[in-house]
Amino acid sequence: MTISITQLTEHIGARVDGVDLTSPIDNETAEAVLSALYSHSVLVFHGQPITDDQHVVFTESLGPLQMTMVNDPYGGGGPINVISNVDENGDLIPPDDSRSLYQAGNTLWHSDGAFKPVPLKASLLSAKEIPPEGGETEFASMRAAYDALPEERKVEIEDLVAEHSMAYSRQQIGSGIMDDAWLKATPPAHHPLARTIPETGEKALLVGAYASQIVGWPVEKGRKLLEELLVWTTQPEFVYRHEWQDHDLVIWDNRSAVHRGRPWDNGTYKRIMHRTTLAIDAS
Ligand SMILES: [Fe+2]
Repeated sequence: MTISITQLTEHIGARVDGVDLTSPIDNETAEAVLSALYSHSVLVFHGQPITDDQHVVFTESLGPLQMTMVNDPYGGGGPINVISNVDENGDLIPPDDSRSLYQAGNTLWHSDGAFKPVPLKASLLSAKEIPPEGGETEFASMRAAYDALPEERKVEIEDLVAEHSMAYSRQQIGSGIMDDAWLKATPPAHHPLARTIPETGEKALLVGAYASQIVGWPVEKGRKLLEELLVWTTQPEFVYRHEWQDHDLVIWDNRSAVHRGRPWDNGTYKRIMHRTTLAIDAS
């Protein structure tokens, strides 16, 4: 099979055909996938009924796999995050349960792992069971959004650093979602507001729900700027909306795309997704 890449929107998203992820891929294919990821930020693979083991093998063919956080109730230090509204018995978790509220954080625009001292490179999400309507994922290009900023705005933000916090993100949903041990294990991290992606040399904004303030600025002034930049980034022209099909696998580059899950009738329908993540390669 020959890999083929079809662009989905002007700035973000491409469909990948000609790759079977139930078998290991060769180096040439891995290079082609990574190159497409750097160009399009989001890659969609349809018809990939992969097991967790195959998911991990594919992830590791693209770079170093990042294990889930030990405190994460949906991964617990393993390679797979289970993002779902179903408990260990296969029953629906009530929408007002704290587990549902934690996952409701996924409906805010965010870049996975931005609250970590070393953020995540990419995420790979496999659809196991999807609701008949709703539950889409939207992606916005932080690279195209940066490019399109007025020059004076680029100069204004050039040296700014933002603080990113898991606690801040979850505070926007409700209180008491994270316990003390978990809060202690995830202190805030600082990252440039406009960062350079090493593989391409391009700049991208780093904004989203984890960004709580601009370092050295009054909190409210910083939040106002962060909010303005997030509204700018998530304009329709920079967004790809993915409507999930069974057995889709979607990869996104967390350095050039911010994303959010859309709501669905989670008291009625199951939505089960498995995610792996790629670490930023230190080499
Ligand atoms: Fe996410």
